Amino acid sequence: MDKKLDIPYHEYDDVLQLAEEDRELLHRAGEMVGKAYAPYSGFRVGAALRLEDGTIVTGSNQENAAYPSGLCAERVAVFAAAANYPDKAIESLAITADARQKVDHPVAPCGACRQAILEYEHKFKHPVRLILRGATGKIVILDSVRSLLPFQFTKDDMGLCPPRDMMDET
Ligand code: THU
Repeated sequence: MDKKLDIPYHEYDDVLQLAEEDRELLHRAGEMVGKAYAPYSGFRVGAALRLEDGTIVTGSNQENAAYPSGLCAERVAVFAAAANYPDKAIESLAITADARQKVDHPVAPCGACRQAILEYEHKFKHPVRLILRGATGKIVILDSVRSLLPFQFTKDDMGLCPPRDMMDET
């Protein structure tokens, strides 16, 4: 049987069409672009997320001379939130970017970031809204990271693997 998945999303031409809270989050993500450390790629990304209690946590991409040691802006923000506010669900995450050539289209999180965001969406059983924009241009909003990660892998898929008790091994 052939099957097909649709990806629902909202698209806006202007930030003025967004709810004030989303506009603020995108603005905070934009401020973080200026704090990115991206001397190798020149691609500067800013992220800002809002927790369920209204707290905003931000991040920017952090590159490294040993290339794989760097981290995307989204994971910097998401891990900072998880580390500092481990009991608070993430409501929304805004992502924006700029580069030597103006980024004029929405920038979506990379695959590894989608998986990291999914982890917390799943943990809290609370969808993470994604607000995506380049330095200019249209804005895309997704109601959950799941739309960007069909056939996702979560801890539920590991149901048959009981956690190993390290003490049993001695
Ligand atoms: N990057 C992000 O921070 N987020 C994304 O969603 C895509 C890529 C960063 C990683 C690297 O520092 C630079 O952008 C170029 O890939």
